[in-house]
Amino acid sequence: MKTATLLAAASLATLSFAASDSEASGPPDSLFSGKSGEPADAPNQSGKQDLTDAELKAYDGSDPSKPLYLAINGTIYDVSAGRGFYGPGGHYGHFAGRDATRAWVTECWETEDQLTHDMRGLVEAMFLPKYMDEELSDAADGKAGADSSLGDLKDQAKKLVSKFGRPSRKERKRRREADRPEAEEKLEQALGKWVSFFAAGGKYPTVGKVVREEGWEESAPEPPAVCEEARKKRPIRGGGKLDAIMNMPMQMGGQAGVVQEDDRDEL
Ligand code: HEM
Repeated sequence: MKTATLLAAASLATLSFAASDSEASGPPDSLFSGKSGEPADAPNQSGKQDLTDAELKAYDGSDPSKPLYLAINGTIYDVSAGRGFYGPGGHYGHFAGRDATRAWVTECWETEDQLTHDMRGLVEAMFLPKYMDEELSDAADGKAGADSSLGDLKDQAKKLVSKFGRPSRKERKRRREADRPEAEEKLEQALGKWVSFFAAGGKYPTVGKVVREEGWEESAPEPPAVCEEARKKRPIRGGGKLDAIMNMPMQMGGQAGVVQEDDRDEL
């Protein structure tokens, strides 16, 4: 993306996310909590219209006599003023009539199942750094996951592992724990930009909340894996001795093809 688009959207949102969310729609829900507000009723005590996911579908623009709604992070907005964007045939028409919070962050909307509010697994799939020494170690053991491009390079991986060493299970766990807070923050920021755009942009009135049963995730199927483009955004670190190599400038003999973390946004 489309950095320009994001920047444009962010600049439209003049208030900070926290402030805007509370002003626009009552007490702020924590991001991706799946909180649903009060039971569906139209309108509710605060004059807002809360809808279930199924009810929200009726406002996807296919009936021109109805307003056009979309939801993000559990809050519904009336985007009728943006029918060209969100109406049938519009560039962002797939966001209409649903809470597709996941897709706002991933930018994956090729398949219907990506258009969900379900944020489970996104921190791991897009924001938690991936370590090359772990990838190599797994590839050498034939354990490389679908994510890895090293699966076919078992022999080369073995050689590299004997040179650079293996991260222990304890070390892997330590990394996950140490990296998680920053990864969660990055996810909040990625979503917060869009939430602010709708909550504080002044263009689209808040309609209400999406009503979901408490504990909906227990009976919901696992959300889909993120698309390849989104997976590529995951930060990459060397890990152990590989850190030094990953941080080496290319002209100093850094490995061609190894993406340096600071460069990733530019690719
Ligand atoms: C190839 C990539 C993209 C292009 C060329 C593009 C282009 C545009 C253009 C030309 C506008 C209109 C700006 C204006 O009002 O003058 C726009 C608005 C917008 N774009 Fe994109 N965009 C892209 C990707 C994305 C992605 C990935 C998302 C969301 C995840 C997104 C979300 C939006 C939103 C929410 C608006 C504002 C619409 C409104 O005013 O309600 N765009 N984009």
